[in-house]
Amino acid sequence: MADVPAFPVPTMPAPPVGVVGLGQLGGSLAAALVAAGREVSGWDVDPAARNAAAARGVRITQELSGVVVLAVPLPAMTTALDDLAVDPDATVTDLGSVKVPVVEALGGAFGGRFVGGHPMCGTERSGHGATDPGLFAGARWALCLEPGTELPRWLRVAEVALAVGAEVVPVTAAEHDDAVAAVSHVPHLLAAALAAAAAEAGPLALALTAGSFRDGTRVIGSDPAFVTAMVEGNAGPASAALDRVRAQLDRPWPELVAAGNAVARRSTGRRTVRVPLDRAALLALGRAGGAVHRRLAAFVEGWVPDPG
Ligand SMILES: NC(=O)c1ccc[n+]([C@@H]2O[C@H](COP(=O)([O-])OP(=O)(O)OC[C@H]3O[C@@H](n4cnc5c(N)ncnc54)[C@H](O)[C@@H]3O)[C@@H](O)[C@H]2O)c1
Repeated sequence: MADVPAFPVPTMPAPPVGVVGLGQLGGSLAAALVAAGREVSGWDVDPAARNAAAARGVRITQELSGVVVLAVPLPAMTTALDDLAVDPDATVTDLGSVKVPVVEALGGAFGGRFVGGHPMCGTERSGHGATDPGLFAGARWALCLEPGTELPRWLRVAEVALAVGAEVVPVTAAEHDDAVAAVSHVPHLLAAALAAAAAEAGPLALALTAGSFRDGTRVIGSDPAFVTAMVEGNAGPASAALDRVRAQLDRPWPELVAAGNAVARRSTGRRTVRVPLDRAALLALGRAGGAVHRRLAAFVEGWVPDPG
C-alpha cells in the first residue's frame, strides 16, 4: 500500500505580509520573510528605515493587504494605520510587548480580524540598523486567542511566525501580560535597580563589575522610551510580579539561593503533541508551557514540557 502523503498539507497560498514600522523587530521580520520567499511590503515614517528595508527586498508602499503587522512603538500602535490604505479583509496583528491595552484598542477597531502578538526576542538595540533576519529563529511568539478572535486568522498569523523559525504560544492577552511581567518587565526594572545601586556603591564597585553584573544588567542599554512604555503599559501585573520578587528577597538567603538554583536544574524534556484547531485546546497547550511548531491539515503539532 502506498504511503500516506507526508504532512504538512498546505491549505491555501501564503498571503502577502505588510509590515508597518521597519525598525529592529519589523525590519527583521520583513527581511526574514523575504528570505523565506514570502511577498513582503512595508511602511515606516522614517525614510532611512524605508530605504534600508527596500535594499533588503521589501516593497515600500502605503497600500497593505494579507497579514498586516504593526511593528511600531507601543504609543504609536493605535494610530499607525490611520493614514495607510489597508485592505478591508486584511488580518491585522502586532508585535507589541504588552497585550491587554493593544488588544482592547485594536480589537475594538478591527474585531475578530485583529490578532495580538508578541515575539519574545529582540535586543537592547533599536532602529533599522539593528535588523537581523535570524532574530526569530527558535524564539517563542505569543499569539492571542481572545473569545472573539477568528481562528483561521489566528492560524494565518501563526504561519507567519512559523515561517521565520519561531514557535507559537497560544495565550490570552491577560495571561500574556501576567507572564511577561514576571519574565521580562520585572527583569528590566531589576536591571535598572541593580545598576543604579551599584553606581551608588561607588567607582570602585563599577570598576570591579564582571559576568554576574553584566548578565544581570544587559538590558539597561535599551531605549528608555521603549522600556518605560512597556512597564507603564503593564503596570498592574508588573507591580504584582515585583511584589513576588520582594517576598522572595525576604526569605532566608540559603533557602532563596537553593530555590533559584532548583529552577535552573529543572527538567527540560519535551513531548510532542497534536492539538486540534480549537481555542480551548490551543490555550491549554500554552498554559502547560508548550508551543506550536508546525501547522498540519486539521490540527497543529507542538510540544509540552515532559518532566520524564
Ligand atoms: N525591542 C525589543 O526587544 C522588542 C521585543 C519584542 C517586541 N517589541 C515590540 O516591537 C515593537 C517595535 O519595537 P522595536 O524594538 O522594533 O522598535 P524600533 O524603535 O527599533 O522600531 C520602530 C520603528 O517604527 C517606526 N515608526 C514609529 N512610528 C511609526 C508610525 N506611526 N508609522 C510607521 N512607522 C513608525 C520607527 O521609525 C521605527 O523604524 C514595539 O511595540 C515593541 O514593544 C520589541
